[in-house]
Amino acid sequence: MARLDPHSYTDSSQPQTRTLRWRARVDFERHVLDAEATLVFHQPGGGALDLDTRGLDVHAVTDAAGAPLAFALDAPDPVLGARLRVTLPEGSPSITVRYRTSPEATALQWLSPAQTAGKREPFLFSQCQAIHARSVVPLQDTPRVRITYEAELTVPAALRALMAAAFVKRELQGATAVESWTMPQPIAPYLFAFAVGDVTSRDVGPRSRVWAEGSVVAAAQWEFADIDAHLVVGEKLFGPYDWDRFDVLVMPPSFPYGGMENPRLTFVTPTLLAGDRSQVRVVAHELAHSWTGNLITNADAEHFWLNEGWTRYAELRIVEATEGDDAGALHAALGRRGLDRAVERFFKEGRPELTRLRTHLAGIDPDDAFSEVPYDKGCLFLLALEAHVGRPRFEVFIREYIARFRFGAITTEDFLGFTEERLPGALAAVDAPAWIDGHGVPANAPVSRSTLLDAIESLGGTVPDVEVGSKWSPTEWQLYLDSVPHPVSYDTAKLLDTRFDLTRKTNYEVLCAWLLVALDARYDAVLPRTEALLGEVGRMKFLKPVYRALMSRPDTVAVARRAFERNAASYHPIARMVITPLVSG
Ligand code: BES
Ligand code: ZN
Repeated sequence: MARLDPHSYTDSSQPQTRTLRWRARVDFERHVLDAEATLVFHQPGGGALDLDTRGLDVHAVTDAAGAPLAFALDAPDPVLGARLRVTLPEGSPSITVRYRTSPEATALQWLSPAQTAGKREPFLFSQCQAIHARSVVPLQDTPRVRITYEAELTVPAALRALMAAAFVKRELQGATAVESWTMPQPIAPYLFAFAVGDVTSRDVGPRSRVWAEGSVVAAAQWEFADIDAHLVVGEKLFGPYDWDRFDVLVMPPSFPYGGMENPRLTFVTPTLLAGDRSQVRVVAHELAHSWTGNLITNADAEHFWLNEGWTRYAELRIVEATEGDDAGALHAALGRRGLDRAVERFFKEGRPELTRLRTHLAGIDPDDAFSEVPYDKGCLFLLALEAHVGRPRFEVFIREYIARFRFGAITTEDFLGFTEERLPGALAAVDAPAWIDGHGVPANAPVSRSTLLDAIESLGGTVPDVEVGSKWSPTEWQLYLDSVPHPVSYDTAKLLDTRFDLTRKTNYEVLCAWLLVALDARYDAVLPRTEALLGEVGRMKFLKPVYRALMSRPDTVAVARRAFERNAASYHPIARMVITPLVSG
């Protein structure tokens, strides 16, 4: 027996799933899916088959001929969920599991009409990364086992169902609609994704459309008008786009991430609709995952930096190519600020091991280990390699890397082995062990410079003149606010707000960066806006630092706890889980 992924019961000596056939009926009353999953193996096999599940109520397991098979569902492990062990007769080509999901399924959020933009229809969506697919489908929930799939969802006829797959058809059957899809490219299970709601679409390019609720779709079409330009840059950098379409679904506000790179259909938070097109970078990031992540996938969560570090690197290249070098430098500097804060926090919390690129996560929930480290330290490591060998050679290396590992799952060791082979000596030159297994950020980390950045830094935390600050882009504001030495004085905060009306900013990145500065300065005129924000967005990137800031001041602890009590029920289950420890104790 060999269990290779610390977050899965998958045993590499057992039959491996090649394809999934999935049918589910969406029950908005009881918040469950009544479903049937057929797992077809690469080769017929026999003996024990271990699957990952979480909260599934398994009714029956049958063989290819429909005969019942013996199965045992273990008691759940708090991180992994429950192992489902099926005993296969020799030569079994497939099995079918009939089951019902739990109303508490960690991958699903069921929204009432009141929690949507339109207020008339409910909404359901999935978020499977890193290890939540098992709460929706019993399967081998590890990126090492890629699957193709065919899926069918039965939903209320008033709603539209979407999947991160190729649409096949929609058929009306009385009060319900049956929609179906096929996913011909093999994907890691964490990329299994769907949403059901009152959504509509607008084209934004030859390969792209945006989906959103009716009241939001025009804003989304405007905000993401440049998607195709990004696709073109992505293809220049990485080679042909392999997933046919690149569509974007704007989620309801409770979506816990900025974006999720579900293949063919990226999910994004509505906080990207800033009205200034600045957040199309998040879309660029999710697009870049089409190569780094969806094509070449981290073998498990301990190698997450291979997904996110590479994708952050690509995001930066796309920003550079579409917005210019100065914008790229600012973007890189923002990343560095976020990284430094995360590293400082992990050191303070006594968890310096989470500042490594290669992590050790047995017994640890990947959602708890999540931070900027794999993103920005990973990206800096790649930039250090690039600086050493030069961009032209590094670009050849990127193409070779993709050609070598596409549709595979790799570890840090695989990456290092390949890098040593193609760029001999480069790893030693940048001191790769310090990046991979060392704590913190190595001193040889590349630093990006630009005149815009120098101008912001030369302010040294003083308040910019009206003519200067009013011309700043959202990124310049964010960088300024992230860079001012904390805490600024009450008077500085007040002057900033009166001069630039920061509390009324509608770009959430700028607003959130400002609220953190103001809270630290005890400029409490921002408290009402802060409390409101905690009830209007579910994106963890905003919720976590704001809750932390409130909890760090004895006099605002009660504000944080009250806000959490009021809003917890409408937060996503993952957000609820990661914020609970922040507001307790
Ligand atoms: N794949 C991630 C989101 C994710 C990570 C979901 C881990 C679940 C577990 C996505 O690509 C991402 O990185 N999103 C960022 C975007 C940003 C880096 C531009 C986010 O959500 O903020
Ligand atoms: Zn990402």
